[in-house]
Amino acid sequence: MKKRSTSEADVRVLWCDLRVLPPETLGRLQRCVTRTEAARINRLRSQQTRVRALVSRGGLRLLLASSIGAGPLDVRLRTDRAGRPFLEEPNGPIADFNVTHSGDLLVWAVSDRFRVGIDIERWPQAQLDSLVPLILSSRELSDAGDANDDVLRLLAWRAWVRKEAVLKAVGTGLRQSPSELSLALDSGSPGPLLRRVGVLHEWTLFELHPAAMYLGALAVSAPNPVVECRAIDVVELLRGSSGNNT
Ligand SMILES: CC(C)(COP(=O)(O)OP(=O)(O)OC[C@H]1O[C@@H](n2cnc3c(N)ncnc32)[C@H](O)[C@@H]1OP(=O)(O)O)[C@@H](O)C(=O)NCCC(=O)NCCS
Repeated sequence: MKKRSTSEADVRVLWCDLRVLPPETLGRLQRCVTRTEAARINRLRSQQTRVRALVSRGGLRLLLASSIGAGPLDVRLRTDRAGRPFLEEPNGPIADFNVTHSGDLLVWAVSDRFRVGIDIERWPQAQLDSLVPLILSSRELSDAGDANDDVLRLLAWRAWVRKEAVLKAVGTGLRQSPSELSLALDSGSPGPLLRRVGVLHEWTLFELHPAAMYLGALAVSAPNPVVECRAIDVVELLRGSSGNNT
């Protein structure tokens, strides 16, 4: 498959709001996933999770297909032992990618050059208090001092997405405890759509704030990557497909 550049950015972050999904696109997306993927998606319990999984996998195939100049079903996706999907492309550079979903949002990160990890979480107030000790390291808890519960929840939410983005980039996911990692966290309100927030080991971290009540993070294996971040809808993804199997 011949690689084709579609953006000047090192990393493209594209997010999709499932509430504005035109129903007629679902049938077309079904033709973008393999039979095995369709069977896995159809086994999911609720209609909401089936739709989300279909858009996640179909949208991913469309995005990767448009980058490499192929049809969505020509994209060779594999999964490593830890469950991390990757692109098998024997005759060219391998674009790395990662996917995340929460609530009504789906986010894809795609890079032609660097390893990436992405996470998004809708404000998880109900469960967050019990998760604080699993997310924050002892150093972060000590840095937080006598912060009130609201600040502690914000720090934990922020730490959660940043650490999960790194662990997804590495590929271990939550097999490694987030509390083993430490960050310099700030307690300001979530800000613009995308902002660089520092580094963790060899990873540059960005915070994503695509919608109220949603916070995300991107980890990239490079010191100063150029990141493009924007909303995309499924119609645009389907239009960008160069393959003939949609
Ligand atoms: C990978 C993991 C961090 C995802 O967490 P999550 O918040 O539920 O899900 P997200 O929406 O952020 O990400 C899901 C996507 O991550 C990707 N993914 C799966 N395993 C991955 C891994 N090891 N590394 C990076 N990405 C992974 C998949 O593309 C998946 O999307 P898809 O199912 O639509 O293809 C988590 O499931 C995990 O750590 N799994 C491995 C360990 C495990 O199974 N633990 C039991 C639960 S603690």
